[in-house]
Amino acid sequence: SSLSLATSPSTSPPPSSYFIGRKEEILQARRVEKFVNGRDVLVLHHEGVLHAMDKRCYHKGGLLQGGDIEEFDGRLCIVCPWHKFKITLAEGEGLYQVLDRAQKPPKHKWLSKGVKQRVHTVIEVDEDVFVRFNSMPGSIDSDQYQTNEYRATLETG
Ligand code: FES
Repeated sequence: SSLSLATSPSTSPPPSSYFIGRKEEILQARRVEKFVNGRDVLVLHHEGVLHAMDKRCYHKGGLLQGGDIEEFDGRLCIVCPWHKFKITLAEGEGLYQVLDRAQKPPKHKWLSKGVKQRVHTVIEVDEDVFVRFNSMPGSIDSDQYQTNEYRATLETG
């Protein structure tokens, strides 16, 4: 995961997007964290598809880099290593399970808390990988770990 990535793209960036690395290097590393334009993002490779999201979990700022990818209710999620919250890769929705007592016998079912994690768009140009930030207006829970104030608390402990 500490693979050092090339520092500049061989192609010019698509509008409003930021260079993450060469595709080959990302595929090798499988997961890459990068600080681009004031944001800490995680880019990961899963079964042929690249995904991007804020690198810190919306719940308490856990590092998603080490999270497993699993399917819940037919949706691919990253499972935060800290408290096992499930976040859909495609939308950043927080999923949770409840016991549905209307069913006889009661059955577990999955519900969504809505979008909690900012997930970003991955753009591939030739062999270069870029990220375009998700510009959904308003605040999304994971935004709170993307401020300079928050980063300062990490540095001072
Ligand atoms: Fe991710 Fe708590 S910090 S589940």
